[in-house]
Parts: sequence; structure tokens; C-alpha cells
Amino acid sequence: MDKIKIVDLYCKAENSSEILKGVNLEINKGDIIAFLGPNGHGKSTLLNVLMGDPTYKITKGKIYFDDVDITSYTPDQRSKLGMFLSFQSPISIPGVVSMDFFKMALNAHKDKPMKMFEYYRILEKAYKDLNMDFSYAQRFLNDGFSGGERKKNEILQMNILKPDFCMLDEIDSGLDVDALNIIAENINALYKEKQSTFLIISHYSKLYSLVKPNRTIVIIDGKIVLNEDGELAMLVSENGYSYLSKKYNIRITKQQEKQSVLGTCGNKVI
Ligand SMILES: Nc1ncnc2c1ncn2[C@@H]1O[C@H](COP(=O)(O)OP(=O)(O)O)[C@@H](O)[C@H]1O
Ligand SMILES: [Mg+2]
Repeated sequence: MDKIKIVDLYCKAENSSEILKGVNLEINKGDIIAFLGPNGHGKSTLLNVLMGDPTYKITKGKIYFDDVDITSYTPDQRSKLGMFLSFQSPISIPGVVSMDFFKMALNAHKDKPMKMFEYYRILEKAYKDLNMDFSYAQRFLNDGFSGGERKKNEILQMNILKPDFCMLDEIDSGLDVDALNIIAENINALYKEKQSTFLIISHYSKLYSLVKPNRTIVIIDGKIVLNEDGELAMLVSENGYSYLSKKYNIRITKQQEKQSVLGTCGNKVI
């Protein structure tokens, strides 16, 4: 991947008004982008829409991957291009064994299935790199896993697939300090190995001090309002969004939806 370009992107969910309201952004190979914004302003939505989540309907705009218009591509097609999303809240899939799930994901990216011994080698290394016991490979995906273990499992999947473009949604939430260091090491290792590109949502400066971003972007009310150097992520994480308001004269508010009352039991967004 050389470049991802997002042009004037708008989207909504089934029961919402517009969430993204004209996002413009260019992401270049090797960028490590800190993606900031207050709660509820559209960070996760943008990542999900970039990955092709059908929950969201794109009402305007385009997404280009190396000049190819991928706006209507399925998540599966985007994954094959090398795009990867680690979810803010990874789900569990009881009944699906972790190692079978990872193998299926890996083989979906290959012309012919990987040999079993080769797959084992990759899997064993991935568990070791995340300091996770290999017995977890036999467990159902995320079933009974703690929040931190689920997050580690996301990075484990990233390490197996080695994507060109990794979107990480609050990968550091719920992690103890050792787990955070390990995850940062794994991100840095993939960057070193492949010059992969990262778009990273975090509210904390610790992650950004370990995985040094070269750019910071800020979303307010569904629009990217700032595109600055990596240092800004540290300043905002440490000083809060009031720092941004003052320095860049940005109003941090969300347009409220107008609501009309339907009888006594419902509200309708108009
Ligand atoms: N599937 C959905 N249905 C309705 N509203 C949604 C949906 N997904 C997101 N939203 C709304 O869109 C806004 C942005 O959400 P989100 O992208 O999750 O914010 P954050 O910046 O905290 O990641 C929020 O007001 C949220 O309630
Ligand atoms: Mg979010």
C-alpha cells in the first residue's frame, strides 16, 4: 500500500443522523497516526467505515486505496488488500477455536492453504511474542478472556496476518502496564519489519510515548479539524482538549440532534 485517500466522507447508521460529516484525509505508507477526539465524535465510526462495516451507510464521499475506489468493497475484500482493524470491544465467538479461526483468516489471504507445520511455527511465535500461553490457542475465541487478553488477541491476529494498514481502536484500554509495553513492542516490531502504516486511537500519552506517531489528527463532530505533527498527541493526552481549544481556537461541541416527541413513548430524530 502506498496511500489511502478519504474524500468528503459522510455516513450514518440506521437509527442515527449523519455521524461522519465530510471527512478528508490522506494516509501515506509508513505513517503512524495518532487519532484523537473526544468521546462520541466519530473515531470508531471512521475506522469501522474504512473497514467496510455494513452497519454504516455511506451517504456521500469516497475511499481510495492506492487510487482504487474501494468505497463499496466488502470487509473481506479490504482485508485481502492488507487492511486490518482491531476492535474497541472485541467480541467472543463460543464454539470457534482460536487457532482454527486464525488459520482460516490467514489462509483467506493465500492462494493455497498454508502447511500445518508452517502455520504452527507462526502461531507459536505469535503467542510467545505476546507473552501468552500457547494453550490459549485451543480455547474458543475470546471466550472467557479478560479485556486485556482480548486486546492481546487482536494484536496476535495482526502479527499473524502482518497487514500493510493497521487500524487500532483503543488497543491500550484495560491493559496492565506490562501488557501495554508488550503490545507497543509488537506494533514497533511490525513497523520495523514491514513499514506498515498505523492509525491508532488512544486517549493516553503512554502508548504514544512507546509507539511514536509522526502525525496527529483530531476529529470533532464527524470532521477532521486538525492534521499536525506527532508531538501534538502527547500534548493533548497530557493537557486535555481545552489545550486544543485554546491553541487552535477550536470549538469542541457536537451539534445536537433535533428531537420531536412521538406520543409518550418515543423520540424521533428529525
Ligand atoms: N450503530 C450506531 N447506531 C447509532 N448511532 C451510532 C452508531 N455508531 C455510532 N453511533 C453514534 O455516533 C457517534 C460517534 O460514535 P463513535 O464513532 O463510536 O465515537 P468515538 O469517537 O467515541 O469512537 C456517537 O454519538 C454514537 O452514539
Ligand atoms: Mg470509539
